[in-house]
Amino acid sequence: MATILAIETSCDETAVAIVKNRQVLSSIVSSQIELHKTYGGVVPELASRQHLEIINPCISQAMSEAGVDWQGIDAIAATCTPGLVGALLVGVAAAKTLAIVHHKPFLGVHHLEGHIYASYLAQPELQPPFLCLLVSGGHTSSIYVKDYGEYQLLGSTRDDAAGEAFDKVARLLNLGYPGGPIIDRLAQQGNPKAFELPEGRISLPNGNGYHPYDFSFSGMKTAVLRLTEKLEAEGAIPVADVAASFQNTVAKVLTKRSVKCALDFGLDTITIGGGVAANSGLRKYLTEAAEKYSLKVYFPPLKFCTDNAAMIGCAAAQHFNLGHTSSLDLEVQSRMSVDRVMELYQ
Ligand code: KG4
Ligand code: ZN
Repeated sequence: MATILAIETSCDETAVAIVKNRQVLSSIVSSQIELHKTYGGVVPELASRQHLEIINPCISQAMSEAGVDWQGIDAIAATCTPGLVGALLVGVAAAKTLAIVHHKPFLGVHHLEGHIYASYLAQPELQPPFLCLLVSGGHTSSIYVKDYGEYQLLGSTRDDAAGEAFDKVARLLNLGYPGGPIIDRLAQQGNPKAFELPEGRISLPNGNGYHPYDFSFSGMKTAVLRLTEKLEAEGAIPVADVAASFQNTVAKVLTKRSVKCALDFGLDTITIGGGVAANSGLRKYLTEAAEKYSLKVYFPPLKFCTDNAAMIGCAAAQHFNLGHTSSLDLEVQSRMSVDRVMELYQ
């Protein structure tokens, strides 16, 4: 049983958790949404500075809420890739310092592997293989979880992430930030079939049809822009109908592609991660598809879907139990494919 102190600072959440294998002893998440709201998106320099200001209080709070002392901690972990380099550096530097001072091993964790581990936190009996659909503000990926630490990226977005598309559409409708929850709320009052939007299919070379698993959301966003310009010229924009139609298209596309991945690879389980997992349209479509194709679908509680350090600690605990640790020379990286996670360990 490994007890891990884990730190997550890859984007705009400063998070620290204490995790014992798949059990969360404490999980502190301090969101910077208010700080970035004025700018309509995350400002990297502000994010790093804010992480630096509150990381120490978050660590103290996580330790005291878990009721553990340093002797009770087996290893210190931090997200080291992918993410904003300045933001990642704050968490990794804090984790390495604690590891040196308290003579503990250090583990760097891949942020997307962390999101996959949110499913293990929510379903402690879950075992690979399964498909993880990861839909956040920064990522949209369908990941085939073959085994612990063994991943294959089946599909991903070619442009905007799903959450980013929600945020951009909300901005062009003047709804505020972050856009996902606002569009979701408005969509409940709108007609999802009011407007038809493109599904963002990726053409294969030489006109050989479409890529079966990849996503594209920027065309959908542009279509919403053109639609609202047209509607505005004609009179008022039926905002709820636009929101419902957009959400419906995104949910349909995410469901179609991930169900195809699962069926093609003989997987009977789909788990969801990232902030867009909260979306009511996606939940509805995936639950219906699961029934139709006899698949199991797991939506972890939202506190594990959005960025948090508990999922990072859970991934680190598994690696630590398998004898993996990272070098103190491990550097942060803004990008790294999830199938390369084992390169982080020695
Ligand atoms: O996972 P997350 O908290 O942070 C990232 O790592 O990106 O995801 C945040 C994203 C934002 O783009 C937000 O608009 C979106 O998740 N989101 C939603 C909903 N709640 C949050 N998108 C659609 N529907 C929602 N209910
Ligand atoms: Zn994330």
